[in-house]
Parts: sequence; C-alpha cells; structure tokens
Amino acid sequence: MCGIVGYIGTVSAKGLLVEGLKRLEYRGYDSAGIAVMGDKGIDIERAVGRVANLEGKLEGRKGFGGSLGIAHTRWATHGAVTETNCHPHTDNAGKICLVHNGIIENYAAIRTWLGKRGHTFNSETDTEALACLVAELYDGDLEAAGNAALKEVTGAYAIAVISTEEPDVLVCARKGGPLMVGVGSGEYVVASDPSAIVAHTNRAFALDDYNVVRLTRDSIRTSTIHNKDVTPKVMMLEAQLEEIELGGFDHYMQKEIFEQPRALRTTLRGRIDRDEGRIVLGGLLNNAKELVRARKLIMTGQGTALHAGMIGEYLFEDFAKIPTEVEYASEFRYRNPIVEEGTVVCAISQSGETADTLAALDEAKDKGALALGIVNSVGSTISRSTDAGVYLRVGPEIGVASTKAFTGQVAVLTMMSLFLGRRRLMSVEKCKQMIGELEGVPDKIELVLQQADQIKAVTEKHIEKENWLFMGRGVNYPTALEGALKLKEISYIHAEGMPAAEMKHGPIALITDGLPAVFIANQGAQYTKVLANIAEVRARGGHVIAVATEGDAEIKDHADDILWVPEIAEPLSPLLTVVPLQLMAYYAALLRGHDVDKPRNLAKSVTVE
Ligand code: M6R
Repeated sequence: MCGIVGYIGTVSAKGLLVEGLKRLEYRGYDSAGIAVMGDKGIDIERAVGRVANLEGKLEGRKGFGGSLGIAHTRWATHGAVTETNCHPHTDNAGKICLVHNGIIENYAAIRTWLGKRGHTFNSETDTEALACLVAELYDGDLEAAGNAALKEVTGAYAIAVISTEEPDVLVCARKGGPLMVGVGSGEYVVASDPSAIVAHTNRAFALDDYNVVRLTRDSIRTSTIHNKDVTPKVMMLEAQLEEIELGGFDHYMQKEIFEQPRALRTTLRGRIDRDEGRIVLGGLLNNAKELVRARKLIMTGQGTALHAGMIGEYLFEDFAKIPTEVEYASEFRYRNPIVEEGTVVCAISQSGETADTLAALDEAKDKGALALGIVNSVGSTISRSTDAGVYLRVGPEIGVASTKAFTGQVAVLTMMSLFLGRRRLMSVEKCKQMIGELEGVPDKIELVLQQADQIKAVTEKHIEKENWLFMGRGVNYPTALEGALKLKEISYIHAEGMPAAEMKHGPIALITDGLPAVFIANQGAQYTKVLANIAEVRARGGHVIAVATEGDAEIKDHADDILWVPEIAEPLSPLLTVVPLQLMAYYAALLRGHDVDKPRNLAKSVTVE
C-alpha cells in the first residue's frame, strides 16, 4: 500500500526521504514522489515506477537543499499510474503540499464544492482535493486548516502536509492509516512504517485515530483534530537495522524462510515452563479467567493470517476443547454476526494494520466480545485495539509473501491452545508432550531447509505448468491453502488449495496429464485416506508431489516426487509441512524471472478495504 515519509530537522531532507522511500518499497507501490521546502517555494519531483526512477530524476535537478520535506510511494486507487496522479499534490497556488495514504470517500463532493470556489484539478486523485481543501480553509495556521479539512472528510487517511506560508512546520494526522513519529534530537522522522524510522532513531510514537501532530525543529504538539491535547506514548522500536536488511540473501522472502528456526526460537523463548508442563503468556494473564470460561472462539484475519487461524481452529478444539470458528475479517465485519456472551474474537495479523481485520475486531468489540490479538508488528493499530494478546516476535517481515509470520502465528496459536488447554481439560502429561514437540520444531525446520536444492529441482521439473493443485486433510488442509496462496501470489501460476476429499466433488475435472498435484501426506490419522486421494489423481495422469514423513517407505510407491519432513506430532505438523511449500513458491517465482519481493499488484500491508 502507499507509504509516507516526512522529515524536519537540520540536515538535508532529500537523501533521507529517498532512503526512507526505499525502506517502504516492500509494501508495494507503483510510483513515488518527493517535496522539499526551499527558499523560493517547494521543490517537487515525481516518477512512475521504482524509487530508483525518482532518484534518477533528482540527480539532474537543482534545488532540493532544504531540511523539511515529505515523500510518498503511491499504490493507485483513484486514477491511473501516471506522474500527474503521483503524490505530493498541491493546491493551484502551490501554497499547500500534501501526501496521503488511504481513501477520501467523499472526495467527489469536495471537488465539486471546491470547483465552485475556483479550484481546478490536474489529477484524478482524492488527495489533490484534500490539498485544495486545506488551502481553501487556510487562514494563517496550517494545523488549524488541516484540522478543519479533516473534519469534512469521510474515509481513511494518514497525511503529511507542509505550506510555503509556514516553511518551518510539518503537520501530520491519521485516521485509519498507520503513521509514526520518530523522535530524534532536533529532528523528527515521520513514516507510515517503522522501517523508515529505525535508521535514524529508536524512539517513536504512533498517532492514534483523529490525532494530529505539529512539528517544528524544536517543538512538538500532539492533539486531536478537535484541538484537545494528547500526550504521546513514546516507545522504543525493537527492530534493529540489520533485521530489515538482506544480510547476504538475494531476497527478503528467502531470508525470512531461512530465518524461521531462529525466529521461532524467539517466539517460544521464556513462554514455556517445561517442568510444570505450562505455557506462560504474559499478554493473556489479566484475562485468563475470562478466556478459560470462553464458550466460543472466533479466529479472524485475511490471507495467510486466516490460514493460520484455520489451523488454530483444530488446535483450540483439540487441546482446549473450545468450539472455534474461523472467518474472513472482510466477511465478518459486514455480516451482522451473532456474538453471544462468552465469545472471544482473536484477530490475527502480521502487520497489525490490515483494514478489514481491524474493522472486524471493532465490530466484535462493539458486540461485547473479548478482543485478542496475535500480531507481529509491535505498537501497530490492532495490537493497540485489543484487550489482550500475544506478539509473534519473529522480527520485521519485509517480503510480501508471508512466511515466518505464518509459522510464528501457528506457534503462538499452539501456545495459546496449550495455555487454555491446561487450564481446562488437558492433562499435564499431554501438555508436556506437546511442549516437547513444539520446542523441537526449530531444529526440525532446519533439517527441511537443508533440502532446499532438492525442492528447487522438483519445482524446476514443473515450472512450465500453469495450473497446480494443493491438497491436504485435517490440520494440513489449511497448509494446502497456504501452499497454493504462496505459489500464486509470487509466481503468478494458477493454484488451488483444497481438502483432499473435496477433489472428487469437482476439481478432479481439472486433472490432466502431468498436472502437478501437491499432497500433504505426512503420517497422521488420515494418512491412508490421503493415499486413496493420491491414487485418484495418478489414475488420471496427475503428477504427485508428496510432502511426507521421513522414514515412510510406503509413500515411495504412491508419489512421483517426495519432499521430506521430520516426524512430528500431527497437530503441530503444519509448522514443518508448510516449509517445502514456501520454498517451492520462492523457486518457482525465481525460475520464472519474477521480482520475488515485489509481486505485481500486491501490497505488503492492505490498509484499505
Ligand atoms: O498483515 P496481515 O497479516 O494482516 O496481512 C494479511 C494478508 O494481507 C497477508 O497474509 C497476505 O495474504 C500475504 N500476501 C500472504 O502471503
């Protein structure tokens, strides 16, 4: 999605803003622009495509020497991907200059109103209307004009705005879209994502909805758009610079797949009491009683996070014996769901900023549910909107295809289900056994990763095939969905995931000679059933790639290719079986020559609905 960077301080803003935009590239965008306050007005440059294109255009340009500026990466919503539609946008006089994330829903009415007052528009964007509205309402105070304008708009926004009339002031505000302020000494870096801040300072605070911050080089004022003072809660950003750099890998996705063992060790650290057979989750303790008495759990999220939630459904019902449902946040929010007493809603989100997930959480809270969060991004909107929750602690995830966040989410869901299970019906012996299995996962993932070359070779065999099927049963049905999602989003190969038994009800018609059919066929309660499904595919010429348990001699007679995973208790098996699928997707994208970390049309964090 769109990204914002702003700077006010003592050094030249240009380099810092461009570097910030590069740090935001992973979020997905199609054009970029920058505005720097100069002695004779605001210097502006825009470019379609990569930030490198913008950088190229800036090389030959005069100006851009100022130490106050704003910059933006755009992911088109209103109007095509053109330089004219690219942010920053100004009013007709060039007095107000603004960047914006989100969607101004009533922009057409605002444009009409402004048109009657003599404003004209160069672009098709909602943002230009907002810049003109601020200009129209400007009466010597940028913050006041911003507040007045924001009171008129409906929709979601995060904005940064500057004015030639106040060349030492940067004003930023948010409702819906994330925005953080990094606090340096004599300087502030504003960004929609902490990754653009950590190179400069670790001290930062997040703006809440309807909050505005007015920054000068030596002052800061945070208030609501209704002019009530707000005291910002400054926190330490945990991400270190090395965590958001490639560090010897070719792509972030590759790095994040390979760092899963280390990331999961951090997820588990300090949360397991092996001797007592207990899970210690500080973020749930205050609500433990309510959770133990819960009558129903609802897991919600989107994409990969939803798949993790589907695995959570199996875990909570198996370990904690709590009836559990899973639902796309985008459906839940508009369905008028029945939330009875004792309902706990658990929002799962890597970024903590997904608009649909946040809205579903708000809907559940309004209806009286206890709100839990399973979030990676510390201090994100969802993490601040819940009653209780557990952080993933897997470190920043930059690759658009979610990998280590998925295994982190499943590990946290496993711990949460054991946490509740032990407080309900689960025996200490069973809990100890599962804890032992969970602790063994990082080492076992390392063994899977050692087969990367073999996984690449199997992928290469089928790289020309345009349709793939992914199938699994039980707790590995969501793994099949996740495998299909990974493949399609970065290699653009059409892939469908399904419960293996569902194939006979329609998708079997797709099986043609050589169609790659990936089966999660690890040892488990439904192993023989999976073998039967495999036979049905092979009988129709499909090429079976099985993810199987090491030491399984039988599978060799059933599959054309086998990707091995170590033995593990079945409920925890997705933590291993997903890893070969992540690697297959990575290699497929690579072999097809795609930009793995910046897949077409996709954004890392979907902050509009
Ligand atoms: O940040 P979130 O976990 O809330 O994101 C949810 C989905 O947008 C995300 O998982 C998406 O499906 C990924 N591209 C999958 O790899």
